Amino acid sequence: MKNKCKNIYITTPIYYVNDIAHIGHAYTTIIADMLTRYSKIVGYDTYFLTGTDEHGLKIAQSAEKKGKTPQEYSDIISGKFRQLWDDMDISYDKFIRTTDHEHKMGVKKAFETMFQNGDIYKGNYEGNYCVGCETFFTTSQLIDDEGCPDCKRPTTVVKEESYFFRLSKYQDRLLELYETTPDFILPKSKAKEIINFVKGGLNDLSISRTSFSWGVPLPDSMDEPEHVMYVWLDALMNYLTGLGYGGDKKLLSYWPANIHMVGKDILKFHSIFWPAFLLSLDMPLPKHICAHGWWTKDGEKMSKSKGNVVNPREIISAYGLDEFRYFLMREVPFGQDGDFSKRALVDRINSDLSNDLGNLLNRIQGMSGKYFKYKLNSKDVAKYHQKELNIADNIVTNLENYIFVMQISRYIEDIWKLVAMANKAIADYEPWNLMKDGKTDEAMALVAFVANLMAKVAVLVDCVIPHKAKQIAVSLGFEINPQNYDDIIVKRQLVHSFFITKTEQLFPKIEENFESIALPTQETNPSVKTTSTIEDDNIITIDSFFATTIKVGQITEVHDIKKSDKLYRLLVDIGENEPRQIVAGIKAYYTKDELQDTQVCIVANLKPAKLMGILSEGMVLASKDDSGLSLIRPDKEKTKGTKIS
Ligand code: MSP
Repeated sequence: MKNKCKNIYITTPIYYVNDIAHIGHAYTTIIADMLTRYSKIVGYDTYFLTGTDEHGLKIAQSAEKKGKTPQEYSDIISGKFRQLWDDMDISYDKFIRTTDHEHKMGVKKAFETMFQNGDIYKGNYEGNYCVGCETFFTTSQLIDDEGCPDCKRPTTVVKEESYFFRLSKYQDRLLELYETTPDFILPKSKAKEIINFVKGGLNDLSISRTSFSWGVPLPDSMDEPEHVMYVWLDALMNYLTGLGYGGDKKLLSYWPANIHMVGKDILKFHSIFWPAFLLSLDMPLPKHICAHGWWTKDGEKMSKSKGNVVNPREIISAYGLDEFRYFLMREVPFGQDGDFSKRALVDRINSDLSNDLGNLLNRIQGMSGKYFKYKLNSKDVAKYHQKELNIADNIVTNLENYIFVMQISRYIEDIWKLVAMANKAIADYEPWNLMKDGKTDEAMALVAFVANLMAKVAVLVDCVIPHKAKQIAVSLGFEINPQNYDDIIVKRQLVHSFFITKTEQLFPKIEENFESIALPTQETNPSVKTTSTIEDDNIITIDSFFATTIKVGQITEVHDIKKSDKLYRLLVDIGENEPRQIVAGIKAYYTKDELQDTQVCIVANLKPAKLMGILSEGMVLASKDDSGLSLIRPDKEKTKGTKIS
């Protein structure tokens, strides 16, 4: 195995203990878990930290409402978070709590160091504070002189003695950081807003409070018993104290972090305050702050009062853990907002997981049993399938380019190209006919080729759907481990032989009826049809329809194509990190201006093809009759990437 001594350090935000975990928290944690599992299987020495954020006014108030001390309350909710991650098999190495003694020691040490470095001074704070966001705002930032610009709830006026951190001093160094390290914030598109904010000028930051006591006290050397630390200074420091900063320092070799996974709402704290604190502490800066989008439920913001908060436990017990993980990672390109609906989840399970992947395993089990007593060898695979193997291996080699730039849905999408290739090989070569014609060697080569593709898929999806990946490996009779990753994925080796075992169905189909509008029955409404009169040889099931992914996209650029009076080259933004390039035969019907910045519907999972030598990554939908061609568009503007169903 290649010597991979590189350290990788991945973190989630630490979660406030004022609430139980919902899909948003689960998403952040699952993505970080996926990156950790990937790094481990590739062979990196990886450390994964998660935990809970337990100090501050918000927690103190929540505890009071429940009639508990903040510590009792934190113990309960923190325990629930930890239990959930354990039940979800999250592969964290350490679960940190900001009430841990070692953490508090580390935070005090940091305060002292910043003070000694001349970055902390005493003053008076006068301004507005949002308890929900634990954030200070100037009056000019408020909505209608009162509302928090982030969560819109009323802020309170704060006037108290406070220590300040010289954030303003770091403005230029932060701007230099964003410029010299353009992938510091990922996706890169999210950096602009931060850069503009910093360019607008940074105020020094109030980092201690005196009006409540639920927080880390200032270091004894400051002799300020009335002050507790601002919760964001306390919380951000967890990324260092989790490695022993200010204590035994045992794990500090993992610093700097490779990935701080965060939601877009807390990007500002991580990409402005955090690097400034680290510069003051003279510590190296993290490599990437990765900001994901926001989940809604059935198109609406989740809230307790609406009662529409998605509880991960409920979804997992109804649909399965790996199914839930797969959906979250595949459905929405990282960085974009996503909408959770059971229907969308079931569609993904039935099409990608059950139809494509699950059936493939079934077919391998069936064919190997029927033709070869469950024993396969790969000795003739190269002879008959070298060309396809090369294509598959090129797809595989390209995959690692997606991971650490957070193109996670793209990573999964490309793995499914191998699944499709395997299913297609079975359909094209028809092993049942090869067997009938006595071409046993060819049939063996085909089934072993397909099993090899499946083995690659299993190793690659181990980070996405670890439990099902292991089930595939058990069925194929091999193990998923870093050595096999190196052999099968990096060195492109074939698995010499397989002893296949029949296992239970990988992803049973989910039969769930999502008709939400109850139609009146025939008795009450005779015009309602109960039998179909459709006569069409091409009739398909709803599953076949959902095999096609149609999405709304925005045309961002329109270009002519040399020597073509029919085609345009379009760039269409469907909410992914890069726009899709699509060659469309619509030039005779639309001018460039008529297309620029308008929305269209595209088939997004069509195999890319070259037209006039130009790669086309999708198809624009249009309808043509005698009067000409019209594009099919949503009649009201939709979020880029919205699926059509
Ligand atoms: N305690 C702070 C983080 C401190 S890190 C040093 C905090 N906690 S939180 O519990 O409110 O949020 C934690 C994470 O959950 C954030 O990354 C946030 O973006 C994510 N989510 C909370 N609700 C969400 C959605 N509805 N959708 C997606 N993620 C969201 O902030």
